[in-house]
Amino acid sequence: MPRVRRVRLSFVPGLDIEFVDRDRAIQQVLEWGERGTRFPVVVFGPEGCGKSAWLRQAAEVLSEGGYEVFYIHPLDRLVHAEVSIPSVKEAFLEFARKALAEDAVGRIAWALFDFVRDLLKVRKARVAIIADDVFQAIGLRYAAAYVKGLLNMIEHPQYSYENIVIIVATSEGLSRAEIGRHRWAWMMPMWNMSREGFEKLYRQIPEPKPSFEEVWRLTGGNPGMLAKLYQARWSMDEAIKNIITSKDLDTFILSLSAEERKWLLEAVENPDTLPAKEKLPLMQKLIELNLIISSITYRDPELWVDQPPPQKDLELGIGKYIAWQTPLHREAVRKALQEVSTA
Ligand SMILES: Nc1ncnc2c1ncn2[C@@H]1O[C@H](COP(=O)(O)OP(=O)(O)OP(=O)(O)O)[C@@H](O)[C@H]1O
Ligand SMILES: [Mg+2]
Repeated sequence: MPRVRRVRLSFVPGLDIEFVDRDRAIQQVLEWGERGTRFPVVVFGPEGCGKSAWLRQAAEVLSEGGYEVFYIHPLDRLVHAEVSIPSVKEAFLEFARKALAEDAVGRIAWALFDFVRDLLKVRKARVAIIADDVFQAIGLRYAAAYVKGLLNMIEHPQYSYENIVIIVATSEGLSRAEIGRHRWAWMMPMWNMSREGFEKLYRQIPEPKPSFEEVWRLTGGNPGMLAKLYQARWSMDEAIKNIITSKDLDTFILSLSAEERKWLLEAVENPDTLPAKEKLPLMQKLIELNLIISSITYRDPELWVDQPPPQKDLELGIGKYIAWQTPLHREAVRKALQEVSTA
């Protein structure tokens, strides 16, 4: 793989870490850079698995590869433009500044279409659009329309381009269904980091820290969970309670029937017990709460960003068809179930 500059990312306040591993995911971006993306690539995966980090790295890789890069992450109030036409770049950044000041971040996402057109009007360029979590910013009900707009840029550009790469990430479990029912996107899941990659990240975390084995067992290679644990001074109990509180799992479990609670407990042991017609409403709710990822049936590497998860690893909560986003997500559900049933 050609050498690429690795971006620096904020891991927790006061600790920046260089983007580690994910070599295959970087290679995939390089390949898209050569061929373009025929569809907008929409990436989904466990919360905290590293989608945003990878998109930042992708912007860097494409920019080094001669692409004109528009990068937006509205929820984080981040906007970059590595664009060679100064007037377009300045107009875009100025527009973004105004939209941010007016708390109208969704506007930036929609405005991308105009600025890409303005750029192509001046130069037949290689254009990359990297949009992180735009669907939350524009509203989930517009997600499909937005993706259609992106596809139109690829299929029916007003001014021609030399090549185009569009990558979008979403951390919203529900957006997958909303977008996936159309032909407009190429959806790709991304999983937590591989054991080797995650170990490289772990080594950069200052001591004192638990053994790698223990951290791996708790996080399943999810860097966001690693940050959460670090923040909680490695208290697993605190991290689990934080998940229960954030997602209001107590209320969720109260809303379930006795039978559904039994199914949920079974799913804690083995998520592959979930796919069944009568359990669909429960499954839907678990997807909505960003606790599980469904339909991960195929592990063909071409279908995944970076490396697919193992075929099955029930210790980490990974089934053949369904997986808990991380072991800690599963443990949060287990604890909330216990508490409600003993209350
Ligand atoms: N390959 C990596 N190298 C170094 N740090 C990483 C890597 N991947 C993720 N991180 C760090 O882990 C944390 C979580 O990652 P990130 O925010 O990218 O996850 P995400 O999938 O976008 O989460 P969400 O679904 O909540 O948007 C961040 O602090 C990020 O900088
Ligand atoms: Mg993100």
